[in-house]
Amino acid sequence: SNRPLIAPSLLSADFARLASEVERVGDDADWLHVDVMDNHFVPNLTMGPPIVKAIADVSRVPLDCHLMIEDPKRWALGYAELGAYNVSFHAEACDDPVGLARDLRAAGTKAGLAIDRDTPIEPYLGMLGEFDTVLIMTIKAGFGGQAFIPELLDKVRLLRNARDSGHVELRIEVDGGIAVDTIAAAAEAGADAFVAGTAVYGADDPAEAIRRLRALAEA
Ligand code: DX5
Ligand code: ZN
Repeated sequence: SNRPLIAPSLLSADFARLASEVERVGDDADWLHVDVMDNHFVPNLTMGPPIVKAIADVSRVPLDCHLMIEDPKRWALGYAELGAYNVSFHAEACDDPVGLARDLRAAGTKAGLAIDRDTPIEPYLGMLGEFDTVLIMTIKAGFGGQAFIPELLDKVRLLRNARDSGHVELRIEVDGGIAVDTIAAAAEAGADAFVAGTAVYGADDPAEAIRRLRALAEA
């Protein structure tokens, strides 16, 4: 199985010091997770293409963009163009996920499907070959610092079975409440990419926090 990847979420960083916050996770992060929120898909607003481009320009690790926005078909390719490694859009906001995934791949980026708390995974299990990542929210999307919902790992288990039995190459990513006390359960359910905001940027030593999370995911 895949080596676990840790993706610190900048949502919990100090937005007044983005360059040094990117630097603080340095080479220890596998991906840098960037949460784009538009105040419509979720009741919170973060950043858009100009700021994400500035982050891409200073990050030494690939950017994992998580678009919590309406109408991703209109905006997602812009993130591919500014250099994002992976662009995840929400299934709930897109009536043609396969079409958008193909457009993202044609633009040279990885395509990700994000599944919010109340959305079942079953309707998407037949299209896994179109995606490079599937992000299972383990909270309701919108804010950092929420409590992990263990029941949502059932979706990770279904996805893991479908992926492995279909021989699809795909990262199973979890996002929300991932910390030292929850990451092992997520890994055991089948996740192999882990977003962590509070658990990394809330730590005194974010690089050390990443190493600790990775060790727990590997165990
Ligand atoms: C929230 C975002 C998450 C957020 C996770 O909707 O998608 O990436 O940063 O934060 P924690 O790890 O604190 O739950
Ligand atoms: Zn996220």
